[in-house]
Formats: sequence, structure tokens, C-alpha cells
Amino acid sequence: MFETAITKLFGVRYPIVVGAMMNLSCAEMVAAASNAGALGILASSNFPTGEQFRDELRRLRDMTDRPFAVNLNFFPSRRPVDNRDYLDILSDEGVKIIETSGHKAPEDLARQIKKAGIVLVHKCVGVRYALKAQSIGADAVTVVGYENGGATGALDITTLCLVPRVVDALDVPVIGGGGVADGRGFLAVLALGAQGVIMGTPFLAAEECPIHTNLKKALLDATELDTMIVMRSIQNSHRVWVNETARKVAELDASHAGLQEIVQMASGNRARKMYQEGDLNAGVMACGQGVGLVRKIRPMKDIIEEIVHEADDLRRKLACL
Ligand SMILES: Cc1cc2nc3c(=O)[nH]c(=O)nc-3n(C[C@H](O)[C@H](O)[C@H](O)COP(=O)(O)O)c2cc1C
Repeated sequence: MFETAITKLFGVRYPIVVGAMMNLSCAEMVAAASNAGALGILASSNFPTGEQFRDELRRLRDMTDRPFAVNLNFFPSRRPVDNRDYLDILSDEGVKIIETSGHKAPEDLARQIKKAGIVLVHKCVGVRYALKAQSIGADAVTVVGYENGGATGALDITTLCLVPRVVDALDVPVIGGGGVADGRGFLAVLALGAQGVIMGTPFLAAEECPIHTNLKKALLDATELDTMIVMRSIQNSHRVWVNETARKVAELDASHAGLQEIVQMASGNRARKMYQEGDLNAGVMACGQGVGLVRKIRPMKDIIEEIVHEADDLRRKLACL
């Protein structure tokens, strides 16, 4: 069902990518995605030392024998890791797929990734960035419209407009996303010409997602109006769930408070506190507009299978029009 260039490139059952999520995409979450037939992506930036990163990769291997990828993050961070060291670990550990994401396609690293025979996917938010990624050897390019949770970039292009533009511009397969949360969105992105679909926000409500139940329940009540873009003033725009801390970050943006103060307020430490303790206002959480379509807390496998089956039914209905 839905065999595409992406299912073949990654060796997965469904053309679904469960996007890397800072502080959340640990071994349990990634294994749940990969075991359900999608491509799970481990977020390397969750692990401050190479040793912890290597241990997590080994834990992940114990939990799944299905394909998975690892994300190398190039966004500004208070606690940057050296991605070259992490690449060495990935090569040693025999990881077969790497996703890079960030403000610039990493040219040097791309060369090394390709030399190591690893499949490279770069995630970005615009046609020109996608072309650049292809030119440095990406085997596939992921693009997300600014409905998406997490980094939105500065271009503010919607998924409906961005995906077909990138599909037309590129020779390599495209994975599209941003605001997709059910079978309708999934099929729509394939109809736009993408060979794969990336989702993050819908999986915040997966049983395996390591956030407090208070937060999952709050997301079930949220609508498409409950997200906002913050950190534009420091060229690090992110779409997040609206809560007290997100509003404070927006105020800091408006008053041009500066990088230190803003990043402090939107820090990973605060987010981790919120995730672990369930204090809904403790930090900032990335979240896309698709949250309005998230209605149940359930296992990752059930979410993925419902999306695929809904899309399959829908394509039959559409064929009859
Ligand atoms: C809570 C959360 C954290 C995220 N963290 C990262 C990250 O660390 N690196 C990254 O490249 N993308 C990150 N993303 C983006 C996702 O990988 C994915 O591209 C996005 O969620 C897809 O759009 P959607 O949110 O509309 O489903 C994050 C998204 C969410 C919701």
C-alpha cells in the first residue's frame, strides 16, 4: 500500500516519516515509529555527549530491526554538539540514513555522509534551500510548510504551495509535510507530488511520546488557533503551542529583548520540566496547526495505520468521482 520512491529508498512499509523532535525522539519513540512501518528519526541533539548518543543508538537497535534515521541539527543552540563527532559515531554504528535540518544545508558534512555510503535527507522550508540540498548530494529532500510544529524559517510558505513547487524543481524524491494529521492530509501531500509525508505534531499524542499526560490532554483540547510563531526577532522562528511561556517569548520578541533572554525563556530545560512534570506553563513546546485534528491518545501504530487506511479508502472514493 502506497509504495513510492521513498519507501524504496528507506526500505520502509509506508511513506511516512515521524519527524525528529527535540527532547522527545528517544529510542522508545523512534522504535515505535519504525516498528509501525514508518521511518522513525532519533534526534541526536537530545544527547549532550557522544557516549550518551552511542548508548542510545545501541538501545534503539535492541528495540527495532527496522530502518530508522538520525537527525543532525544545525539550528542555533545553547548547548551545541559537534556534528562531525556525531557523524563518526553514526558511521561506526552502521546507521544507514541521516536527516540534517537547520538554516543551511551542511556542505562539508554532506560530502562525508555520502562518502560513508549513508543516505542523506535534508529538511528545509523553501525551493532554493531544497535545490541547494539536492546540489550537495541529498538523496531526498523534506520540505515543510509553515503550518508545521517547530522551525518555520522566514519564508512563511504553506504546505499546499511549497510541496508542488519543490516537486517541480527537484529530481530527487520529495517528502512533504506541515499540518498533516490524518489520512486526508497524507493523501493530499502525495497528490501534490511528494513521495513521502512527514508528521510530528500528531505523534505528540502517541502513547509512546514521552510527555506528561496533562500535556497530551491539553493538546486534545487545542484547535488550529492554539499555535503561534515565536523567536522571529532572533531569526529562529518556531511554531509553538500557545501557553503563558510562549506569550512571554512573544513579548520578548516584540521588545527586541535579544538572543540570551529569548533563548533562556524558550530553553530545553524549561520544556523538559513541562514534559516531565506536566506543568502546562513551564516551558515552550513546538506544535503545528494540525493539532486541531488530534483527538485521541493512542499507540503510534494505531495512529499510523488509521492514517494509511483512511487515505486508502479516500483514494478509492476519489477514483469514483
Ligand atoms: C515538539 C516538536 C519538536 C521538534 N523538534 C525538532 C527538532 O529538534 N529538529 C527538527 O529538525 N525538527 C523538529 N521538529 C519538526 C518535526 O520533525 C517535523 O518536521 C514537523 O513536526 C512536521 O510538521 P507537523 O508538526 O505539522 O506535523 C519538531 C516538531 C515538534 C512538534
